[in-house]
Amino acid sequence: MSTKQNRPALILNGDLLRLEQAAPCHRAAAEEMKREFFSRGETVINGSALFDQLDFDSWLDHVRRSYSPETVSGDWAVSTAFFAVRQADGGMIGMIDVRHALTTPYLRDFAGNIGYAVRPTEHRKTYATEMLRLALVYSKILGMSTPRANCYADNTASVGVIRACGGTMAEEKLWHHRTIRASGSGGVSRQNFP
Ligand SMILES: CC(C)(COP(=O)(O)OP(=O)(O)OC[C@H]1O[C@@H](n2cnc3c(N)ncnc32)[C@H](O)[C@@H]1OP(=O)(O)O)[C@@H](O)C(=O)NCCC(=O)NCCS
Repeated sequence: MSTKQNRPALILNGDLLRLEQAAPCHRAAAEEMKREFFSRGETVINGSALFDQLDFDSWLDHVRRSYSPETVSGDWAVSTAFFAVRQADGGMIGMIDVRHALTTPYLRDFAGNIGYAVRPTEHRKTYATEMLRLALVYSKILGMSTPRANCYADNTASVGVIRACGGTMAEEKLWHHRTIRASGSGGVSRQNFP
């Protein structure tokens, strides 16, 4: 594989971190981060586009297919998978997935345009806030007028992140979820961004 293919095709720079589109160069750090999530009892990595269920190479193939309208799966939308990488030392911080359109009921009613997670040892350092801000800039570049971020209403951490990015609640409703995340059938808040 050429060096070019090994590197992220797209990088969005922020102050504390940058979002790098998933690429082969992320393999070792991504696998190490996944082990950290699992060792802390997390069974789902939000915004990971199924990295919690697939080995790195299968997952990279999956997210590359999802990036193209020609190859994206019929039950998903064209989307961009990013890793968040700290500017200071290149450490991997988390993941964020931007779905370019809400083309399925699952995306529209539950998952929204943007999903994200920060590795457990890096919480409460404003990383998710910067990740979401960068993803919102990217969403605007893609032409989204009202990107949506959905989360469980009782996910105070995520509600705080969305608020910190200027999100306001548009709707609360019950969602009979079908994922393995066992936080129950709580309300899902759907947020608007300015
Ligand atoms: C939600 C999540 C991404 C937050 O990441 P983070 O980097 O710790 O968030 P930030 O440091 O940017 O927090 C921004 C604000 O959100 C709120 N917040 C964050 N974590 C919180 C917590 N555990 N409890 C209450 N409020 C919290 C606070 O208002 C915080 O600002 P403050 O630290 O100045 O008080 C992280 O907890 C996570 O990965 N959770 C699991 C995955 C998930 O729920 N993803 C969202 C659904 S798609």
